[in-house]
Amino acid sequence: MFDAVSLVSNASAEAIYQDLHLVPSYAAAHGAAMSIAFVLVMPLGALLIRGMKGRVAVAVHVSCQLVGWALMLGGLATGIRVGKILDRLHNNPHTILGTIIVAALLLQPFIGYIHHRRFMSTQRRTAWTYLHIWYGRILILVGIINGGLGLQLAANTMAGKIVYGVIAGIVGAAYCIVMVLVELRMTKVGTTETSEMALEERSKQSHP
Ligand code: HEM
Ligand code: HEM
Repeated sequence: MFDAVSLVSNASAEAIYQDLHLVPSYAAAHGAAMSIAFVLVMPLGALLIRGMKGRVAVAVHVSCQLVGWALMLGGLATGIRVGKILDRLHNNPHTILGTIIVAALLLQPFIGYIHHRRFMSTQRRTAWTYLHIWYGRILILVGIINGGLGLQLAANTMAGKIVYGVIAGIVGAAYCIVMVLVELRMTKVGTTETSEMALEERSKQSHP
């Protein structure tokens, strides 16, 4: 929620005053798109590839992450607009870190695709696999933290900040726990087993 006083006190001397009335709707759209992408859709896409098996798991993962990716691009466009109006573009930690995260994640579907192609031809995890997994995990977690920095910057209500903090904290912690469990399972099994290997095993069983 915004009011005229907090909006004006939020704006710097270089703000584009004739566009200030656009800030509440653009900031709300930015906050919603980015929060849904980083706190909901992307962690869900990462969890689903662990919770499902085979070809379906990869298809669901890719669809889910591409929805998150599209939301992130919408969030970037609205974030840049608000940043320009309020003169907040790249002069504070939130917009600088946010731009780095978004730019880095632009590469992620291509890294995932290269991993998938290599895996299908070698049946082994390659450096691209580990790059895709760890690059994605780190960027999703730093993105969740960056949402908190965005709320500090914005004129949101205390209730809004608490709701984001609680949900983001629970999702971030749950994702870290799942990561540890996945890594422990991999170490215990002592193999490079993946969802895609389960897919191969299944297809071998059906075509001996
Ligand atoms: C923006 C798009 C994408 C994001 C953010 C993303 C993110 C991730 C993350 C975070 C993981 C690790 C899950 C975990 O924490 O354990 C992962 C795994 C995986 N991703 Fe993606 N991904 C994306 C696109 C893709 C694409 C396009 C493909 C394939 C064409 C793909 C295939 C896979 C596979 C097969 C794994 C499991 C790898 C293994 O354990 O061996 N991803 N992805
Ligand atoms: C990981 C990526 C990002 C996330 C999760 C994120 C999330 C958020 C959230 C939750 C808010 C609070 C919105 C509100 O209370 O209405 C916010 C504010 C803001 N964000 Fe982002 N953001 C990200 C990246 C960016 C980028 C790349 C830019 C611009 C280049 C940007 C520009 C802004 C600005 C200017 C505000 C303050 C709006 C105001 O003062 O009213 N953000 N962001």
